[in-house]
Amino acid sequence: MDMHVLLCLSTAVIMVVAENTYQNRPLRYGVLLDAGSSGTKIKVYRWPQRRSSKEIADINLIESMKYRPNIGSFVHHLQDISNYLVSMINIAEEIVPTNLHRNTPIYLMATAGLRIISEDFSEILMDSVRDVFSNSTLNPFVFHDDGVQILSGEEEGVFAWIAANFLRGFFGSGKPPTQAVGVLEMGGGSTQITFIPDGPVYANMFHVRLAGDLFYLYAHSYLYFGQNYIDSRINTYVLTTESLSSHVTNPCRLRGDDEYVKHENKSVLIKGGGDAQKCLEILNVFLKSAEDHKCYPKPCAIGQTYQPDLGSDVFFATQAFKYAPRALQAVDSLGRLQLEKMKEAAIQYCAQTLDEVTNGTTHGPQYASSNCIMGLYIPVLLTNGYGFPMSTKNIYIVDKIRGQAVDWAMGAMLYKMETVSIQTTTCQRKTRLVAPLQLCNRF
Ligand SMILES: *[C@@H]1O[C@H](CO)[C@@H](O)[C@H](O)[C@H]1NC(C)=O
Ligand SMILES: *[C@@H]1O[C@H](CO)[C@@H](O)[C@H](O)[C@H]1NC(C)=O
Ligand SMILES: *[C@@H]1O[C@H](CO)[C@@H](O)[C@H](O)[C@H]1NC(C)=O
Repeated sequence: MDMHVLLCLSTAVIMVVAENTYQNRPLRYGVLLDAGSSGTKIKVYRWPQRRSSKEIADINLIESMKYRPNIGSFVHHLQDISNYLVSMINIAEEIVPTNLHRNTPIYLMATAGLRIISEDFSEILMDSVRDVFSNSTLNPFVFHDDGVQILSGEEEGVFAWIAANFLRGFFGSGKPPTQAVGVLEMGGGSTQITFIPDGPVYANMFHVRLAGDLFYLYAHSYLYFGQNYIDSRINTYVLTTESLSSHVTNPCRLRGDDEYVKHENKSVLIKGGGDAQKCLEILNVFLKSAEDHKCYPKPCAIGQTYQPDLGSDVFFATQAFKYAPRALQAVDSLGRLQLEKMKEAAIQYCAQTLDEVTNGTTHGPQYASSNCIMGLYIPVLLTNGYGFPMSTKNIYIVDKIRGQAVDWAMGAMLYKMETVSIQTTTCQRKTRLVAPLQLCNRF
């Protein structure tokens, strides 16, 4: 071997070491495929290895790329799922240093989009993903069968709660649980509420261990109460309650926002009515609490759903909660949602026509009616549904914290890391030299 080659080799080794450590701690990676209803996002996280299990890993999202279509669309051509997943795995292979591939876990977690396709189909899909992930020709990363799963709405809520409180620096800070923030999330299909109640929790309790502390959370996900579903449920409501003439009126859409929909084999015109009072009446039907004698355990939020008292907890509202409050200027200078102001602004907003709202603006009409519906829905959901007072100052509209989005995927990665123990230095050294690497825990 001549000197030149030797020199190159040692330079390469030094470079790898330099790239793979942070403050003398080796860097760790994790790969998560977030399979949502509009596509799958591959997310790569990185963190300096923890020194003890009392410490929360300081994870960072270093890559996020979205692939369309959504994973559910492969249900009738499963043979194509391999290429779809492999193109995402390849992205992660480029980012994670090669010597760490067999030290890096990969997960796929699916959300609401897969919860609503039939269980048989969704299990077939998940099995196909497992086949690809467990094939070492296709996937160099570490995979276990339980690393591919369909999340329940509550798990999504709990993971979002972990992400929000992690980004605030809450875990490992020694602060009492009363200083954690609750999280309100809304997607297209469902909406979630997650918080640490002050008193006992009689149902829907989740316990989470993070950085050596145990937290008892209440979480509930309301399927069909997400942004898109509320709109289509209002359509269904007017189609089934109004007598069918040439058209029916959706009072929660702006006048001029008309659409044909299929209803019992016929094409029916749904006309926007821009009638806030009627819209509120329908929303109140959807969000009514069960009568006292039907509500066990008490108290009830929406329908017969148990929810402990909110106490004085601070909440962060994310995802679809953030658009309408901003558009209607119902967020104060501290970022707090002003419910009363929002409802009043929405009533005025809904009275305008689609043309008036879009006149002079560059954005298309697609969000115009949603500010009317959401402008009314959000205040009713939060007060009549969840039980916040109209005058609450405890809800903050939050998008990003320290530059990172509050989303369940980050919380899921932190949670997964807690379920495996800390790697000791001895183990690490051994695995460096002796394959297989999978025998050691990775964090
Ligand atoms: C793994 O994938 C390769 C490439 O698609 C394929 O040829 C091989 O049969 C697969 N192995 C198993 C065990 O399925
Ligand atoms: C809708 O159309 C299908 C086929 O054209 C027919 O079998 C079915 O009875 C119709 N349903 C209603 C509610 O009219
Ligand atoms: C749109 O704005 C222009 C200029 O402000 C105004 O003349 C016109 O009447 C508006 N059209 C509608 C439909 O409101």
